[in-house]
Amino acid sequence: MDWVSVDKISGYEGQTVELRGWVDNRRSSGKIRFLLLRDGHGVIQCVVTPDQVSAEVFELADKVPYESSIIVRGQVKRDQRSPIGYELNTQELELVSEAEPYPIAKKEHGVGFLMDHRHLWIRSSQQAALLKIRSVVTSSAREYLDDLGFISVEAPILTPTACEGTTSLFEVRYFGRSAYLTQSGQLYGEAAAMALGKIYVHGPTFRAEKSKTRRHLTEFWMIEPEMAHWELDRTIELAEGLICAVVEKVFEKCSAQLTTLERDRGALEKIKAPFPRITYSEAVNILKDQKFQFNWGDDFGGDEETVLSGAFDKPLFVTHYPSAIKPFYMKKDPGDRRLALAVDLLATEGHGEIIGGGQREDSLETLESNIAAAGLDRAPLEWYLDLRRYGSVPHAGFGLGIERTVAWIAGIHHVREAIAFPRLMDRLNP
Ligand code: 4AD
Ligand code: MG
Repeated sequence: MDWVSVDKISGYEGQTVELRGWVDNRRSSGKIRFLLLRDGHGVIQCVVTPDQVSAEVFELADKVPYESSIIVRGQVKRDQRSPIGYELNTQELELVSEAEPYPIAKKEHGVGFLMDHRHLWIRSSQQAALLKIRSVVTSSAREYLDDLGFISVEAPILTPTACEGTTSLFEVRYFGRSAYLTQSGQLYGEAAAMALGKIYVHGPTFRAEKSKTRRHLTEFWMIEPEMAHWELDRTIELAEGLICAVVEKVFEKCSAQLTTLERDRGALEKIKAPFPRITYSEAVNILKDQKFQFNWGDDFGGDEETVLSGAFDKPLFVTHYPSAIKPFYMKKDPGDRRLALAVDLLATEGHGEIIGGGQREDSLETLESNIAAAGLDRAPLEWYLDLRRYGSVPHAGFGLGIERTVAWIAGIHHVREAIAFPRLMDRLNP
């Protein structure tokens, strides 16, 4: 007898199969018992009738606690009323492990309680749907870059210095000296691009963010492409193509999950190239038109991003930020040295920034003075300066934040549900 997963059940109509999973729910109606078996691939109703099973099995079906692990064998039957089109006529039911009273009830729980039980909460249909969408976001982003000939390279997690500013560094003891958890794989990605041409780094990144917002985690994942001999415009086109490909793949592979999450599909269907592009200065004018108190030179916060991101029905590229609010590695605009050749992509529906990147400073002298101006220790960055000493070229790249992208595509408010086990300022458990 084949052990079948619920998503493959349509290929087994009329056959007797084995299913392995957990008791998602159970109910009875007259002489019939219904067990909802969940196996991670779907939920199927197993019908238990007294004439088909032993008295013990019938009693088990009546009492088996929620979330107990079970194995069910029976015949696959087409059923129009079923959300998946099939149910199972149970012949055998085996209890693998009886669950204790399950802490998560169908009633509403507070977020704190659910986060404390995150290891169990991820079994719920909505949370599982988010994790599936996340998996497709990362695999489709990687596949898009792989198909364009990008090479995947890993950057170290333990690093000697900051990439994105010293205020959000996590310090760890490293054999009697200090090391820092990486904030971005970019600097190593640049070295790899000089060796391999077009690369991407996919990995976890860490920021000791003291901000408790719906957009900030202390541990999050990025996909960071970096391209030698590329300039800003081509980099923006890559970001645009990447986002369109990811949204398309989620549509193709996660239709059921989008339904589970009640995602407004219409909003996602509009995500087609080209995306609008404006400069930072134009964005400031939009904010001023909306009566925002905002001075040229300030960085956008959550509120500003929400307004800008809500003003368009496609993702919005914002370029040419003041270099004073961007990191030391950003190339200055040769036409206006107050500006950096930076680009951020703001997602639609008020979700804010999902991509940050730009063209890198390729002049040794300028980079040296940027490092000094930023007050950074130069010694641990000497290797990075070597990239400008030995065949420096124009190059560019960006980082796509996975959790923010998932939250946007799935239409959820807070990034904490876009990763299996979120790390936040006040959350290290489970
Ligand atoms: O804009 P950021 O800080 O850019 C960099 O780190 C560059 N070094 C990337 C590069 O050019 N290779 O971060 C990039 C993206 C943001 O747009 C956002 O999506 C995400 O990473 N991000 C966060 N996501 C969750 N929690 C946080 N605290 C985040 N900080 C950044
Ligand atoms: Mg940014």
